[in-house]
Amino acid sequence: STPGNIEKEKTLAIIKPDGLLGNYTDDIKRTVLEYGFRIFKEKTVQFDEATVKRFYAEHSSKSFFSSLTKYMTSGPVLVMVLEKDNAIADWRALMGPTDARKAKITHPHSVRAMCGLDTQKNCVHGSDSTKSAEREISFFFRELSADVITEHDEL
Ligand code: PPS
Repeated sequence: STPGNIEKEKTLAIIKPDGLLGNYTDDIKRTVLEYGFRIFKEKTVQFDEATVKRFYAEHSSKSFFSSLTKYMTSGPVLVMVLEKDNAIADWRALMGPTDARKAKITHPHSVRAMCGLDTQKNCVHGSDSTKSAEREISFFFRELSADVITEHDEL
C-alpha cells in the first residue's frame, strides 16, 4: 500500500438473493455509506453449488445447510469489501440479528429489519471475525492478497 496511507479494517458483506431481487441494493449501499464505510471493492456473483458449499463449509453439519446453500444459489448476490475503523463488528451491528423477524423488533433500524424476512432470507451476510474476514475477502477477491504474492507465485 501507499506509504502514509493507513489501512482501515476490512470486512466482507454480501447482499443475498432476496436483497438483490427486492431492489434493496441502493438502500443498503446508502446505509453503508451513511455509517462511514467505504465500498472498497464489489462484484456480482452467481454462486454455483460447489462454490457456495465451500464458502459456508463451517456450517456443513448444520440442519439448515442444504436449505442455505440452495437459497444462496437461487439468484445472484452482490459481494462487497467494506472498509472503516472497526468494520467487522460495526457491519455486524448494522446488519442486526440473524433472524430478521427478531431484528424488526429489537433492532428496527438495522439492515435486516429493513429488508429481511427470517433466518434464511435475512438479506445480508457479514464476516464474524478477523479470521473469517480475511478468508472471505480472499475467497472472492484474491488480488487483495497481493501484498504476500511474490513474482514467483503463479496466479
Ligand atoms: S450459527 O449456528 O450461530 O453459526 O448460525 P448463525 O450465525 O445464526 O447463522 C449462520 C448462517 O446460516 C444462516 N441460517 C440459516 N439459513 C437457513 N435456515 C436457517 N434455519 C438458518 N439459520 C441460520 C444464517 O442466515 C447465516 O447466514 P450468513 O450468510 O452467514 O449470514
